[in-house]
Amino acid sequence: MSEVQATTTMEKIVSLAKRRGFIFQSSEIYGGLNSCWDYGPLGVELKNNVKRAWWRKVVQERDDMVGLDASILMHPRVWEASGHVAGFTDPLVDCKVCKQRFRADHIEGDRCPACGGELTEARQFNLMFKTFMGPVEDSAAVVFMRPETAQGIFVNFNNVLTTTRMKLPFGVAQIGKSFRNEITPGNFTFRTREFEQMEIEYFVKPGTDEEIHRQWIEQRFQWYIDLGISKERLRLREHAKDELAHYAKGCYDIEYYFPMGWSELEGIANRTDFDLKRHSEFSGQRLDYFDQESNEHYVPYVIEPSAGADRGTLAFLLDAYHEEPDKDEVRVVLKLHRALAPYKVAILPLSKKEPLVNMAKGIEKELRKYWMVDYDDSKAIGRRYRRQDEIGTPYCVTVDFQSLEDQAVTVRDRDTMEQERVPVAELSKYLWEKLAW
Ligand code: GAP
Repeated sequence: MSEVQATTTMEKIVSLAKRRGFIFQSSEIYGGLNSCWDYGPLGVELKNNVKRAWWRKVVQERDDMVGLDASILMHPRVWEASGHVAGFTDPLVDCKVCKQRFRADHIEGDRCPACGGELTEARQFNLMFKTFMGPVEDSAAVVFMRPETAQGIFVNFNNVLTTTRMKLPFGVAQIGKSFRNEITPGNFTFRTREFEQMEIEYFVKPGTDEEIHRQWIEQRFQWYIDLGISKERLRLREHAKDELAHYAKGCYDIEYYFPMGWSELEGIANRTDFDLKRHSEFSGQRLDYFDQESNEHYVPYVIEPSAGADRGTLAFLLDAYHEEPDKDEVRVVLKLHRALAPYKVAILPLSKKEPLVNMAKGIEKELRKYWMVDYDDSKAIGRRYRRQDEIGTPYCVTVDFQSLEDQAVTVRDRDTMEQERVPVAELSKYLWEKLAW
């Protein structure tokens, strides 16, 4: 038995996510579409904040990284070169009795985990979604929905080099949707057929790859901790040789202790020169690097930290979840890092009448220039605090009758619940300091 504890159950997070507008089932009014999810008003803020924090760390704060946004549909030859047409498969088995399907490598023994029935022989199932480009649905028009964003970076290697004058080692970062026809999606947004990835291809001189691989593993692990994930629920796991993807020389997963146990959050692989060499071979274009120092041409190796934006968002949501005793009740509070919280501030006027509303609306307007702000004037103040705690708003600003006289408001801290009186004229500056990250 693992001593690590999950913060809560998946059921509680699914229920909170729906009730408060983080995540809804896709096409719900039609009965839903299996394993597809929609981010609601709070969810889109949270996920955007996760992506923003990632981009800031790996692009904005570094002089050796640039960004890219490649198209989802790519030339079909890309997927032949990358090895996905031949090798991006999972072993699929069917139960001869109940007809359920499973990934052969996800079940123990040789009987159906649902009914104990006999299983078919495993057959390889390609995970790429196909579609057709143009009006004719024939094999010549088949294109794939990308199963990873990475290939958009490899095929743009020369474009990035010539337009940016980057020197090795350097990397390209990209955030975007990927699609995989997973045999067994599930666990809420953990494994879905449409998901978003945050990927880096970091090009290095061969021979320096192992050291740089180690550095990226450390930095990526630390990123989750810096953004509030508890160290106890994170671990590194090295891939065994027989688990490695067809392109990888070595790979480590950053795993999080989800309610269903330890599961992959991000993979950090050493992809060697596999992709650039294959694209060079298949396209006939030279994809290498001229090293001015050593006066030689070579194909760089690639270190690839590949994270899931949806899995990351789910992990941040789960890890932030706290239940605390509060008199006879339970206070549910999302202790989200301030960088990730959907709303940074809530304005809570103690009355719905003028002139208090006027003052509260003025404060709201001012703060909205800088942050996502919620305005809540319904029900008792205690209830309103609880509502903001449950969605992770770090600061509540209460405008009371005293405010009209002293031009000051009460700012309440979500985690400590301490309150401080702050002059309205200094409120933006006060919050800037508190919310900086
Ligand atoms: N380019 C390398 C690559 O795609 P991967 O381990 O297959 O590697 C990287 O995927 C990350 O993408 C995973 O760690 C996970 O966070 C996310 N991911 C992969 N498949 C997913 C799925 N079906 N649903 C949600 N996220 C997924």
